[in-house]
Amino acid sequence: MSRFHGRLTTVAFDESLQGTALEPTSHEEMQREKKCYIESYGCQMNFNDSEIVAAILQERGYGLTTDAAKADLVLINTCAIREKAELTVRKRLQEFKSLKKHKPEMLVGVLGCMAERLRHRLLEEEKLVDLVVGPDAYRSLPALIAEAESGQKAVNVLLSREETYADISPVRLNSNGVTAFVSIMRGCNNMCTFCVVPFTRGRERSRPPESIIRECRELFDQGYREVTLLGQNVDSYYWIDPQSQQATTFAQLLEQVARISPWLRVRFSTSHPKDITDEVLLTMARYPNICKYIHLPVQSGSTRILQLMNRTYTREGYLKKVQRIREILPDCGLSTDIIAGFCTETEADHQETLSLMDICSYDMAYMFMYSERPGTLAARRYTDDVPPEVKKRRLQEIVEKERIHALKNMQKEVGKVRTVLIEGPSKRSEQDLCGRTDQNKMVVFPKKHYRKGQYVNVRITGCTAATLLGEVVEACVPDMA
Ligand code: SAH
Ligand code: SF4
Ligand code: F3S
Repeated sequence: MSRFHGRLTTVAFDESLQGTALEPTSHEEMQREKKCYIESYGCQMNFNDSEIVAAILQERGYGLTTDAAKADLVLINTCAIREKAELTVRKRLQEFKSLKKHKPEMLVGVLGCMAERLRHRLLEEEKLVDLVVGPDAYRSLPALIAEAESGQKAVNVLLSREETYADISPVRLNSNGVTAFVSIMRGCNNMCTFCVVPFTRGRERSRPPESIIRECRELFDQGYREVTLLGQNVDSYYWIDPQSQQATTFAQLLEQVARISPWLRVRFSTSHPKDITDEVLLTMARYPNICKYIHLPVQSGSTRILQLMNRTYTREGYLKKVQRIREILPDCGLSTDIIAGFCTETEADHQETLSLMDICSYDMAYMFMYSERPGTLAARRYTDDVPPEVKKRRLQEIVEKERIHALKNMQKEVGKVRTVLIEGPSKRSEQDLCGRTDQNKMVVFPKKHYRKGQYVNVRITGCTAATLLGEVVEACVPDMA
């Protein structure tokens, strides 16, 4: 059972990304001898990794603290996806360095996606850290900490072809006790030319289905009512049982998780347009508890740019997938990721992205300016030739377009009755609760006697661009809270 509970932190690939510190709550936690402070950046998978790290450290007697100044060990789980993410981390490390001046015995460690690339610089040139540990080496953390304590610089950035941390039950951090993330695979084999992930996280590997089902079942037994299955490309999940030689595809895994209980909602992220299959869409249609929401990153609306990005689909191919989603799942929420100003992008390419957005009418999008990452194929092959001010203006146009569609889709919800899983109090008022619809839209409504973990039918009465407002019509039976 998790020892930590509190607020849910939903952090996405956001340029304004803030680090999130973990919250220890129990008295026992405060009594432990050594304290660790972990700050996390980047995608949900990285946040989930911090929960694995917390489990490994807890096993070794570490407690957690939200106050870095009180910690014996400060860990920063880093992201390398865009330059800005890296700059934020380096700034934080400078701050920890000055903290260390007053407390020289404190150890500072870098985990995650920046580890491999910056280890020499961080350890030697800048002497910012004592410990550098890559995403596949967290089991060696206790040994590395011991090494660092004895005054040596401790490093393990080896990537693995097998590690999935399948047997480790993550310590749920900053959790609302209702929704949880479960990693089903690690790494990525797609060589999108702009992307650093295959270099920082290594080869793709899937986690055994039994361990995923076990974790989801445990979560349900602990009162969780929603799991999000995580992978960089969930549609390429594939497991062959070593004994029976029986294969499990993503669609089959999804079905197995959905069968744990009709009262466990299932979500997943991220789908790759080249790999999402009819089998997955039909499985979604068959199970009411598989949420009708797909995050399908397009990156660009221009086939020429998609080819340069090595996304391996065309504009038309992407649109066909969206059409298939609409046919099989008429009420499905759809979101995406878009990059503005990739190498050689012309005004005509940019217009194609805008027109594709009009066709897809996304409910939400994460939108970024292209940021060249050293070592990627794009950095080696192409020139980052779209001037920053042009990138900025194109991004602005993309953002404005997204707002229009998002608001329009929110307005269409007004008057409908939607089933909402209550996640807890709303951010703004203790008198209101919030939760999401099947289609992943956040709804805020008066609390009355309802509680988190309950499913309620809510009549939507109004909206903003990001939130629906409503009134509970009735609680759904059974009341599992
Ligand atoms: N695996 C997911 C995406 C992971 S990274 C997928 O394939 O869709 C999340 C998002 O960050 C990407 O979808 C992309 O839009 C963005 N991104 C990745 N590298 C980037 C870069 N170099 N510059 C700007 N945005 C980038
Ligand atoms: Fe990066 Fe492409 Fe893999 Fe996504 S699919 S993580 S964008 S290489
Ligand atoms: Fe960042 Fe690594 Fe995730 S680069 S987006 S933390 S996989």
